[in-house]
Amino acid sequence: MLSARGLCLLFCAAASATQLLDRNLVYSSPFVGYPQFSHDTRKIEARHVRNVKRQVVGSEGFVDEHYPTFYGGDFSNSAFLWGGGINFTHSVASGDPLDDSVLLWTRAAPASGGAQPNQDIPICVSFKIFDNPSLSGRPIDTGEAFTTYDVDFTLKLEATGLKPDTTYWYQFADCLDSSSVSPVGKTRTISSPDTPADQVNGGKPLTLAVFSCSQYQAGWFNAYGVAAQNTSADLFLHLGDYIYESLGNGAKIGRKTLGRELATIADYRQRLNQYRTDSSLILAHQNAPWITVWDDHEVADQSWKAGTADSNDTLIGCSFSPSGACFTDRKLAGVRAYHEWMPIRQVDVSDKLRIWRNFQIGKLLDLTMLDTRQYDRDITDLYYNTDINSIADVTNRSLMGAEQENWFYSTLSQSKARNAVWRVVGQQIVFTQLDESTGFDVDAWDGYRANRNRVLDHLYQNNIDNTIILSGDSHANWASDLAHPNDTVTYNSATGQGAIGVEFAGTAVTSGSSFGTGILPAAADVISTTLVAVNTDLQWSEGSYRGFFTLTLDPHFANATYWAMINISNPNFDAFPSAKFVVQNGANKLARPVAGGSVAAGVLKSSVVGH
Ligand SMILES: *[C@@H]1O[C@H](CO)[C@@H](O)[C@H](O)[C@H]1NC(C)=O
Ligand SMILES: *[C@@H]1O[C@H](CO)[C@@H](O)[C@H](O)[C@H]1NC(C)=O
Ligand SMILES: *[C@@H]1O[C@H](CO)[C@@H](O)[C@H](O)[C@H]1NC(C)=O
Ligand SMILES: *[C@@H]1O[C@H](CO)[C@@H](O)[C@H](O)[C@H]1NC(C)=O
Ligand SMILES: *[C@@H]1O[C@H](CO)[C@@H](O)[C@H](O)[C@H]1NC(C)=O
Ligand SMILES: *[C@@H]1O[C@H](CO)[C@@H](O)[C@H](O)[C@H]1NC(C)=O
Ligand SMILES: *[C@@H]1O[C@H](CO)[C@@H](O)[C@H](O)[C@H]1NC(C)=O
Repeated sequence: MLSARGLCLLFCAAASATQLLDRNLVYSSPFVGYPQFSHDTRKIEARHVRNVKRQVVGSEGFVDEHYPTFYGGDFSNSAFLWGGGINFTHSVASGDPLDDSVLLWTRAAPASGGAQPNQDIPICVSFKIFDNPSLSGRPIDTGEAFTTYDVDFTLKLEATGLKPDTTYWYQFADCLDSSSVSPVGKTRTISSPDTPADQVNGGKPLTLAVFSCSQYQAGWFNAYGVAAQNTSADLFLHLGDYIYESLGNGAKIGRKTLGRELATIADYRQRLNQYRTDSSLILAHQNAPWITVWDDHEVADQSWKAGTADSNDTLIGCSFSPSGACFTDRKLAGVRAYHEWMPIRQVDVSDKLRIWRNFQIGKLLDLTMLDTRQYDRDITDLYYNTDINSIADVTNRSLMGAEQENWFYSTLSQSKARNAVWRVVGQQIVFTQLDESTGFDVDAWDGYRANRNRVLDHLYQNNIDNTIILSGDSHANWASDLAHPNDTVTYNSATGQGAIGVEFAGTAVTSGSSFGTGILPAAADVISTTLVAVNTDLQWSEGSYRGFFTLTLDPHFANATYWAMINISNPNFDAFPSAKFVVQNGANKLARPVAGGSVAAGVLKSSVVGH
């Protein structure tokens, strides 16, 4: 039987069914306005109306944009709404906070003991957001939305009318049974763009926790848990490779990956579903808003705009997969599943693939998130093509595509013009030139050298200072001054003079070290010793530990703390800070002595070349 609450939902007609479908942003992600790619909520509603009509006497010819009205049939038999109970299978998450709103996410699967319900029955979920952890008093925002089988029962909606720089707690419930609730999530808004830098975050430093490369089969996601449990991180940033399309062998540590190499929407959903069962990841999503961008593995290894290492739209490129999915279909599936499962906004409804976006966090910083990978990247190293290094200097090669690149430069300039203290750029791949003895990683900025010069030129020529580039992808730790590669005239690597900013590149949450999977600290330090000696801008290298780093900003300093996990073969919160770096407002370099002159892991340039 429907409760009184359920009846009201049908009769009180506060919101039409289409509105309830549309309130769930997942239906319109990522390709709203492109009927061939997005979910047409009118069709979903029409399908449901047809089904209900079969059960409701006297409603023939019923044409209404609104939710079907009760015509006297037996409610207890009529599948207007799923009434069999909800299972909030993956807790809650939030993301992309602005000064007055934030996205809230959950998954509301039918609690059916495993059986799928009729796919045509919408599941109605309500939410409430409060300014206190006991959820007392009047909610600041509340509402209802539908989810269905079409979107894997995911639900993403925007809580609005919030105050800047404020912490909130939220919870979802079954519209038909207010006692059936999700876990409580904690989230927050950011400062309004014009908030003076020293008043952002209530005058306390703002901390970002930065992650990349979390491969399920390679280990437990302890880094997320340590960041949530043991740091005061306000925002969680993921720079990509949040999932991997590969299977691997994680069985021996209890991390056997389900399914197959990802190609179809069902594959990508199943993988995200499994990753999101990690307890540290659940904790981290529940505790703070995330701001994420994808790298290659959210689609497949070595993605670029027209393919990946093992897929393209030629017949050979389709044959790798059991499903025979070609690149375009595979990418569409990967992108759609990502938008279903991640608390990310669709930035521009008319720009299908765009996730590059900017957050103005008071006058303290602009946080600029780029997509160097899926949006419009020119060809990369695909293993069977061997000549990328020879084309790395080609002027018009781009990692972002012209539109995004121009937007990036104007965003940097606008940030300076509005007197934001810091420009923090979250992006996928290592920016600094790294001669790794075996050559350059041409899948990083080293394969797009003209593009890198354009970025550096823009900073130098416009005197844009206090830029901090954050990078992932490489599965190792690097801290560098930003300068033109090989420039020992303008830039002095001993003092840092002449640099235009810094790069903090972080190791993987779990993925194997690029120095060799499982490499021990002593062996990794041998390699790091060579790398810091050979590479002018590189000031610290560490290749053994998995982990993450934090960046803590106030108007005077931007300080990075790198965290090393002790053991990712089981779930734990054991970690230690491996290095701490200080950047002073206006200095545009790592403060000397770099890392205070000593680190707990890895190798400092100053300890090798002795300055
Ligand atoms: C709820 O979902 C979890 C995770 O998928 C599952 O283990 C559990 O059996 C489900 N419970 C019900 C009542 O459906
Ligand atoms: C497409 O991918 C296949 C398999 O990786 C590769 O052998 C083939 O050369 C690729 N074709 C093009 C045009 O890149
Ligand atoms: C890039 O430049 C090369 C050489 O000038 C030219 O052949 C190519 O068409 C250009 N590509 C684009 C996308 O402009
Ligand atoms: C810097 O010098 C190295 C060694 O000569 C060279 O391989 C590399 O291409 C140079 N980098 C740039 C950006 O010119
Ligand atoms: C950064 O580190 C410096 C030197 O240890 C310290 O004085 C300052 O308070 C720190 N600032 C922030 C924002 O963490
Ligand atoms: C890490 O944990 C695994 C599994 O619990 C254990 O077998 C291994 O000995 C641990 N490694 C270290 C270095 O303690
Ligand atoms: C993090 O906090 C947990 C729980 O308080 C504690 O057990 C663990 O040792 C802490 N880890 C670190 C690195 O401080």
